[in-house]
Amino acid sequence: MSVNTGAEIHGVDLREPLSAAEVAVIRDALMQWKVVFFRDQEMDHAQHVHFARQFGDPTPGHVVFGGDGEYPEIYSIAKYRTANSKKRSRPATHRPWTGWHTDITSAINPPWASILRGVIVPPYGGDTYWTNLAVAYQKLSPKMQSWLETLTAVHRLHMPTETENGKEYLDGAEANWMEAEHPLVRVHPETGEKVLYCSPSFIHSIVGLSANESEALLHMLLEHAVRSDWTVRFKWEPGSVAFWDNRATAHLAPRDIFDVDFDRQFYRVTLNGDIPKGPDGARSKSINGDPITAL
Ligand code: SIN
Repeated sequence: MSVNTGAEIHGVDLREPLSAAEVAVIRDALMQWKVVFFRDQEMDHAQHVHFARQFGDPTPGHVVFGGDGEYPEIYSIAKYRTANSKKRSRPATHRPWTGWHTDITSAINPPWASILRGVIVPPYGGDTYWTNLAVAYQKLSPKMQSWLETLTAVHRLHMPTETENGKEYLDGAEANWMEAEHPLVRVHPETGEKVLYCSPSFIHSIVGLSANESEALLHMLLEHAVRSDWTVRFKWEPGSVAFWDNRATAHLAPRDIFDVDFDRQFYRVTLNGDIPKGPDGARSKSINGDPITAL
């Protein structure tokens, strides 16, 4: 994996109920490495949900579309999951942080973890990246750290255009509009670490700064957040599973899969999260939308 981020765990079968000791080992590794990976775990939906439930309460599979029929906890990450995925794969403006996100930080209580399993995996390409936002915070200067600890930021559900994602997505996003104000530095509720809590695709502006100041600061922070020094790149195989902590990471789904005809079919379960807290103890505030509720 990388020096700062990601660990591969062997010697456990995720399809079977885990012992308390196994749950604790996986959880400890997750807290330390922020994302953990498993190989050769050919699970079905029921096993995926059962594995997830040993670590928390699943949310509906997708904040806009819900879940996968019989399994409302499962979100199907199909290659062409939105009407116009082909057009969407190449945004007009590309920045180093384009596409990076932490799941649903527009909610006041973003999911704390996500568990993704690869079923149809392209023979090459289609890798996923994660960045460690606790290390990103540690690598800032003490003066910058102190200032950021006093700031909050607005996170919004990205509103795609109809051309990008199609009318069904646009209508769903409008009906489920979510917006929240989170601390820019979040205290991790389990490790106590301070985390640079910026989710590039959702973070919109820094509260109290002018538009120019906010944009300039965000550009600097987002570029810093996704520096390759604290990221990890994972090469999937059928049966691979990635389990990450959304309170300390952002991730990037691949775009190179749209340059080839290979299919890619993944499934994800997310676990319901708490309301973030800043170093001064102040909690996030909801601007729009209800908290996500567990199933
Ligand atoms: C996600 O953003 O949760 C999916 C990542 C991936 O498809 O690799």
